[in-house]
Amino acid sequence: MNTKIRAVIFDLDGVLVFTDRFHYQAWKKIADELKIPFDEQINNRLRGVSRMESLEIILEQYYGTPLSSTCKEALAEKKNGIYRELLTQMSSADVSDAVRDTLTQLKKKNCLLAVGSSSRNTRFILERVQLTDVFDAVADGTMISRSKPDPEVFLKAAELLKIAPGQCLVVEDADAGIEAGKRACMRTAAIGDAAAHGKADYILSSLTELLSILDDKKR
Ligand code: BG6
Ligand code: MG
Repeated sequence: MNTKIRAVIFDLDGVLVFTDRFHYQAWKKIADELKIPFDEQINNRLRGVSRMESLEIILEQYYGTPLSSTCKEALAEKKNGIYRELLTQMSSADVSDAVRDTLTQLKKKNCLLAVGSSSRNTRFILERVQLTDVFDAVADGTMISRSKPDPEVFLKAAELLKIAPGQCLVVEDADAGIEAGKRACMRTAAIGDAAAHGKADYILSSLTELLSILDDKKR
């Protein structure tokens, strides 16, 4: 029988908040300047992947003069500046009722809550949408050396929560994140883009469905 789930570790971008459109807009500007094709399909490959790795994926279709690592750093920095500017539009109104209600209900069930995100902007975003105080732990891109599909960020979240990985459920919109959750020996729930791929233990059409997963006594 499975161990009881005592903690839920949420990915941030695309699960708690819909910053994916801002990532898209910012990368699109960079790609357009370099005359590189960039569309939603390529953008989906960037889910859960670190900033520099995202740039490398975008550059797969760049056939101009080879770019030095300094130049790549500058491009990533520029993208982040555009992205951070877009993020300033965000407020608590950008957290859906489904997200807020689910977090509140999970807390009522004494479930530990954490964020496990590759983003180095995690703290900034949580502050903007006023979610910082909701979580018992936040593991983010500033604390890890390997991004998803490596399990590091989720294992870090479990360590901060002082809980065994087997007692955690990861919620993800990225295939890379589902793989990371599995490699961390955690249970996984897919929402959004990752839900279409059927690799997770649970497929969610809404975050509120987490509540019945946690209630399921057979789990
Ligand atoms: C992840 C996003 O959460 O964070 C990726 O899904 C993004 O698309 C990554 O590249 C890194 O984000 P940031 O904010 O550090 O550039
Ligand atoms: Mg995500």
